[in-house]
Amino acid sequence: MKKGRILSGMRPTGKLHLGHLIGALDNWVKLQDEYECFYEVAIWHALTDHLDTKNFQEDIYDMVRDWLAAGLDPKKSVMFIQSDVPEHAELHLLLSMLTPVPWLERCTTFKEKIKDMHIGKGDVSYGLLGYPVLQAADILIYKANVVPVGEDQLPHLELTREIARRFNYYYGRVGLHDRVGLHDNIFPEPRALLTSTAKLLGLDGRTKMSKSYDNYISLGDSAKEIQSKVQTMFTDPKRIKLKDSGHPESCNVYSYHKVFSSNEICPTLMGDCRQARIGCTECKKNLAKYIEKFLAPFQERQRKWKKDSIKVILDEGARKARAVAQATMEEVRKAMKIKKGDDL
Ligand code: TRP
Ligand code: SF4
Repeated sequence: MKKGRILSGMRPTGKLHLGHLIGALDNWVKLQDEYECFYEVAIWHALTDHLDTKNFQEDIYDMVRDWLAAGLDPKKSVMFIQSDVPEHAELHLLLSMLTPVPWLERCTTFKEKIKDMHIGKGDVSYGLLGYPVLQAADILIYKANVVPVGEDQLPHLELTREIARRFNYYYGRVGLHDRVGLHDNIFPEPRALLTSTAKLLGLDGRTKMSKSYDNYISLGDSAKEIQSKVQTMFTDPKRIKLKDSGHPESCNVYSYHKVFSSNEICPTLMGDCRQARIGCTECKKNLAKYIEKFLAPFQERQRKWKKDSIKVILDEGARKARAVAQATMEEVRKAMKIKKGDDL
């Protein structure tokens, strides 16, 4: 018996990096056995800050290939592209009527986004402002109970719950239109599930790996690329000469060792570093080897997934997702008295 339903998604940013695998994907993979899972390629969300669609198709396949190589299993999880389920757009439209503009303007992710994009409020598109409403539609249309996300997405989850509550209030069991209890609340309020695994910092020590900071190791990187990227990592700033004792607890390389060499080098590294028995160059070489070893089986699986079979999986996923989304939309239209016919 499954514990409930999950929906999560990623914008198609092309090939994924180690941060995606360690922070999010490995968690998605684990959840497949416990929950009924829907994983979405959030292609419309990508458009909210990126109008250039030249590489869209390639980016979708590259990302889903990495999902599959990480262990998402089409027999267990439904994987699909958002735009293959146009019902999301209809629900987004209806939910937008229930969402006050100040809720969206107050959203911290929105404020950060316009700062990052270096644009003024006057240049904000209607679509960007409505990003969380589209995300709410993604989640609610599957009546997901649980949404595995990173901390940065918590404001969107909170908004989703508020929108669900509003919808239920207006159109659900305790709603204005139906106080006698003819139908139940339509949308459950979903909760966020934060990843429990250690999060990888960026190679430069920033809080996360990101393509835009160029501080990542791609899941497809060769041994050579891994080695040279690891060599660029900052180490303990107080350790200048080889014989200076190190402070592994404040060294990013050490935090990576904890993830990739946990049972082997890591237990002795703490002492070796503090007592200056190992130099940083050697320590990084070791780390690069562990990352290579960690990625080798992943890269083998990556090579196995060809575009044709990915397409079949996404088509089949869209079919399954659509059946659920259509059923929810039927309920929504009925509850809102939009549907012509019996309720008139
Ligand atoms: N906004 C999410 C991100 O940038 C992606 C996303 C779109 C999503 N729709 C979703 C995540 C629904 C969870 C649920 O990471
Ligand atoms: Fe960091 Fe390793 Fe250098 Fe110690 S030896 S400071 S853990 S890179």
